[in-house]
Amino acid sequence: MGSSSSCCGKDNIEDGANMVAGGSSSWRIFTCKELDAATNGFSEDNKLGEGGFGSVYWGKTSDGLQIAVKKLKAMTSKAEMEFAVEVEVLGRVRHKNLLGLRGYCVGADQRLIVYDYMPNLSLLSHLHGQFAGEVQLDWRRRIKIVLGSAEGLLYLHHEVTPHIIHRDIKASNILLDSDFEPLVADFGFAKLIPEGVSHMTTRVKGTLGYLAPEYAMWGKVSESCDVYSFGILLLEILTGRKPIEKLPGGVKRTITEWAEPLIVQGKFNDLVDPKLRGNFDENQLKQAINVAALCVQNEPDRRPNMKEVVSMLKGYDPRGRVMQSRIESAKYNEELLALDQTSDDDDGGGGCGGDDGGPEESGYGVFGAMEAQKMQDPYKRFGDNMKMAKYV
Ligand SMILES: Nc1ncnc2c1ncn2[C@@H]1O[C@H](COP(=O)(O)OP(=O)(O)OP(=O)(O)O)[C@@H](O)[C@H]1O
Ligand SMILES: [Mg+2]
Repeated sequence: MGSSSSCCGKDNIEDGANMVAGGSSSWRIFTCKELDAATNGFSEDNKLGEGGFGSVYWGKTSDGLQIAVKKLKAMTSKAEMEFAVEVEVLGRVRHKNLLGLRGYCVGADQRLIVYDYMPNLSLLSHLHGQFAGEVQLDWRRRIKIVLGSAEGLLYLHHEVTPHIIHRDIKASNILLDSDFEPLVADFGFAKLIPEGVSHMTTRVKGTLGYLAPEYAMWGKVSESCDVYSFGILLLEILTGRKPIEKLPGGVKRTITEWAEPLIVQGKFNDLVDPKLRGNFDENQLKQAINVAALCVQNEPDRRPNMKEVVSMLKGYDPRGRVMQSRIESAKYNEELLALDQTSDDDDGGGGCGGDDGGPEESGYGVFGAMEAQKMQDPYKRFGDNMKMAKYV
């Protein structure tokens, strides 16, 4: 696999589509001309969506392969870094639930990443976007999406070396193939974790609503941040609600704030997405809600790891503990919630990445431009406003 330096160098690699030696990885270098032709000149009609990185276009290669081409929006050093990280990470991973690399193209003023086209687009488009009205996500498909996404993350956290933290797990980054098999996408924010390192401190990137409190506030990143985001995603899939909702009057409410009292009271029928019209497996729902509740605990050490999450979702509790219906989720404070753009997006189809009217500087979700060091200890700063309710 090409390294970040080789993929982003200025060498002219535009002539010839080089198959990778070894043959096991099926990615190759595309020419910009080839991708231009495949996408009909990156025409608006071919546009699948837009995110922080740039726009994504549908295309068809001359040999008939349907592809999705992500075109870098601006050639800033930050964007180049995202490109390099994405290509570097994608080249290391191979799993049925991770969207692999089909290729890339480095032109004089262009950076393009090529993926397989996923005919059912993103989970976001089915939950809150253009397909939401069609309710193609029945219970069986939702469980398949939950398990597949969890297995993709398990692979990243526990099976690939060095371990990888995704850092941007959210509904728009779960793509769906023709069988609604989920593929975790977008590794532009990913962090490779050196052996023996339990956590790192970094600039905060990602999307509010999915961000673990210790990461949002202090930039402390570990696998557990992905577990938190997965817990939010799980709640979103089960309930059909957005991670942050705007209530009449403009107040914003997180999905955990909404779910907590219902979970505590065991009102599972009130939690489940009404679009399912009662067609769900009650035991599976309870199990999945309990897993979500464990994942979104405020304290990272109390969250399960992805191996445990997968086991629990499959109905087996590896720690042998009694499943707890317990959430200790932290409420984002008002200032952070004011930065949220996703709940303002009524059709939900604009993505959660900060390119749907979000702050331009960030372009990567609301925290993109925020230095972790500038954030303060949320518990000291917001005292009583921090909701630390403990439910057993
Ligand atoms: N391989 C693909 N196949 C089909 N559709 C895709 C593919 N990749 C991306 N898309 C579509 O393009 C949209 C934009 O993707 P993109 O990753 O650029 O932005 P995003 O996920 O909304 O935000 P972010 O930049 O924060 O990840 C996705 O929501 C999805 O609908
Ligand atoms: Mg994305």
